[in-house]
Formats: sequence, structure tokens, C-alpha cells
Amino acid sequence: MSAPLLPLFVKLAGRPVVVVGGGAMAALRVRQLAEVGARVTVVAPEVREEVARAAGAVVRRGFLPEDLDGAWLAVAAATPEVNRAVAAAAEARRLLVNAVDDPEHASAYTAGVVRRGEATVAISTGGRAPALAGLLREAIDAVLPRELGRWVELGEAERGAWKRGKVPLATRRPMLLRKLNALYDGAEPAPARAPGGFVSLVGAGPGDPGLLTRRAAERLAAADLVLYDALVDAELLRLAPRAHCFHVGKRAGRPSVSQRAIERLLIRGARRGQRVVRLKCGDPFVFGRGGEEALALAQAGVPFEVVPGLSSALAAPALAGIPVTHRGVAAGFAVVSGHAEATYGPLVDALPPTGVTLVVLMGVAARAALADRLRARGWSASTPAALLLGASSAEGFTWTGPLSALGEAPIPPERAHLPGTLVVGAVAALASAAHADHPAASARLA
Ligand SMILES: C[S@@+](CC[C@H](N)C(=O)[O-])C[C@H]1O[C@@H](n2cnc3c(N)ncnc32)[C@H](O)[C@@H]1O
Repeated sequence: MSAPLLPLFVKLAGRPVVVVGGGAMAALRVRQLAEVGARVTVVAPEVREEVARAAGAVVRRGFLPEDLDGAWLAVAAATPEVNRAVAAAAEARRLLVNAVDDPEHASAYTAGVVRRGEATVAISTGGRAPALAGLLREAIDAVLPRELGRWVELGEAERGAWKRGKVPLATRRPMLLRKLNALYDGAEPAPARAPGGFVSLVGAGPGDPGLLTRRAAERLAAADLVLYDALVDAELLRLAPRAHCFHVGKRAGRPSVSQRAIERLLIRGARRGQRVVRLKCGDPFVFGRGGEEALALAQAGVPFEVVPGLSSALAAPALAGIPVTHRGVAAGFAVVSGHAEATYGPLVDALPPTGVTLVVLMGVAARAALADRLRARGWSASTPAALLLGASSAEGFTWTGPLSALGEAPIPPERAHLPGTLVVGAVAALASAAHADHPAASARLA
């Protein structure tokens, strides 16, 4: 592998740049150079009209090494043979050379660029796969907020204030995020209402696009704006080709877009006449704050609908072969969040130690405390338990064992980032045996 490239943004305004070549390859680069204010001289025996128009000067003849004297950058956009000569002449003058579609003879590479005001994102494949850089550029363009330029202005103003106030570096990012959230926190005047605006609170299912409902796919296809959560599979965003997609997910232990700001974005989008999809993993009304968003929309008078999704509370056990109810074994199931013991504790304490299945979302980190609590409430140490990570994804991982071992259930480090669901109850003994139609299934329940 060759040495990594240093990404660098250079000022070429007013500086001489020589482009060797006058055809289609040269046309694009001459236009780009003219846009940033470079003084472009084109050298080629034949020069297309559009190249000549965009260039500052044209020399109609073959390339001579002295053409590069005094230039800040050379661009080789001719035949491989001429490009080689340009590269050699540039090297001799310690001049960087960009070779259009000829990475072998280049020492500087242009990037796919997404610009929003002063914010520039550049994508490079080191000149090896320009088409891929183009695709990445489109993907990044789709997810970057339109108003990024405004965010830069805010960031710049804040930076000045921080410097004056000697604000420590470590606190600057969370402070900026709070300021950005405030942009959508109602400080803005409500935009005039445009017709047609509508919000769909859509459940994305546990991850696998194959488990998305048809209605969810229809809403994505028609969407202008998609606000999606952290656990939503990025593959699903391909189903929304027209939409501007914006990640608003919570990021563990790090500041994220506030709930209030998300609600303001939904309302603002709809009032501007956009078809807005709020895409959440699983079902929007199962530990997804979908209820709060529905209330905020109703209060704002914004028309909306709920498109239910397949909750991981059901899908994760089902995909692992665990039926959450099973005749004679589990007459019902309870779904709780393991996020805060003060909240799930009283609910769990109220469950009988047999005849019911307990499903816990957001409980992987709290699995030891949960197991201890259940044991203290009379659940047998041998009660079957399961830990299901990344259900429906290719990386999916299942652990099963007795409740007494749940607290220590090992998680492979490379799977530690996956969302996980816990299942406790006799039905967990059916994991994989049931869906594999395994003869051990009935034995495990006996
Ligand atoms: C904030 S809750 C949202 C639940 C979601 N609304 C639902 O109905 O599935 C996130 C939790 O869902 C569970 N979860 C989501 N996707 C999962 C998956 N693919 N496999 C296992 N658990 C998952 C995990 O417990 C995760 O911590």
C-alpha cells in the first residue's frame, strides 16, 4: 500500500496554474480552477471552445517543460505519454502535478467535494476509484444539513466568545451542540405554512430491510426529509432517494440532538410543506419517544400518522427461535426497559417467577443487577435466559444459559457495539431449537 495522502485545502486565487490538454478531461479541471480564481493557462495543440472560454490564456502547441516555470500547480490532462512528460517536468521543478484520470503520473489529487457555505467536505480515494468518490459524495450530500453554512457562522461566533472567555477546549463541543439545538428550540419564528406538509412516525423494524413494512417503504420513497435514529440501518436510507436524511440519534455518553429540537424539526419540515419521515428502530411507540413526538405534532396542529414497526422486543426473540408465549409454559410476556433500575424494578418485582416471559430492552449493561433482582424475588437460578445482540443483522449473536450465569454472559468484543435484548423465562430454552425444528425443543422445556 502506498503512503497515505495529506488532505490539504489550497488557495489558488490569483496564482498561475498550467493545464496541459485541451479536451474533455481538461474542461472539467479548467472550470474548477476558474471557480476558485486561479490564473489558468492551457497548453495544447487543439483546445475545445469551452476550455478556451474558461481559461485565462491559451497556448496552442505541444507541451514544453518550460511551460511549467512559475506555476503553482500543474495539471496533466492529455495523453498518458504527454502526462508522463508533464509529471517529469513538474518533478524536476518540485511542483505538484494533478493528472486527470491518470493517477500513476500524479502527485496531487482532487477530491469529490460537498460544499455548504464555508463548510467543505472532501472525499478522496487517492485517485484510485473516482467513481466511488462520486458515489460517496452523493451519499454525504444527502445526509449533510442544508443549513450547514449557517452552523459554520454560529460556530465562528461562538469560537470568538470562547477565546475571549478562555473557555476550556473540552467543553466547547458540547456547548456548541447546545447552541445548535437552540436554533431549533423555538427561538425561530414559525415559517409560513405551506400545503401538503405531513409527518409519518415510522417504525423501521429491528434492522434488516426485509423486515420493514410495505407502508414504511412507501413513506420513505415519497419523503422529502428523513430524521433517523442511531440504530436505524443506513441501508434503509436508500429507500428515500429524494429525501434529505438527517441523523438525530442519541450517541452513548455524548451530547446529541435534543428531543425538543427533533420535535421542532418535524414541525418546521411539515409547515414548509415537506413529507417528513421520523424513522425509528423497531416500533416508534416502544421505548422510542414516539408518543412525545405525536403529542408535540398534535399540539402544533401538524397532520401526522404512525406507521407501526416490528419491535425488537418481539423480533429479537422470534429470530432466535424463542416464542415469547408458549402454551402451558408462558401465558404472557412483559417488556421493560433496563435503562433505570428505579423504573423497571417495581415492574419486575410484580411478575411471578414462572409462567411469564420477561423481555428487557436497553438492559445489556444492567444484566447482572437484573439477574440478582429476579433471584431475590424467587426466580430459580436455573430459569433459562437469553442475550440477543444485533438481531436480524449478519453480525447477530445469541447467548443462552441459566439466569445464574446471565450477569456474566460473555459478549465478544467485536459485537459489543450491537444493541441487545434480554429474555428471561422458560421459553428461552427454546432458543434456536424451536426455529430449527430441533427435537431437543420439547426436552428443553420438560
Ligand atoms: C431505544 S430502544 C428502542 C426500541 C425500539 N423502538 C423497538 O421497538 O425495538 C433501543 C433498544 O432496542 C433493542 N434493540 C433494537 N434493535 C435491536 C436488535 N437488532 N437486536 C436486539 N435488540 C435490539 C435494544 O435493547 C436497544 O437498546
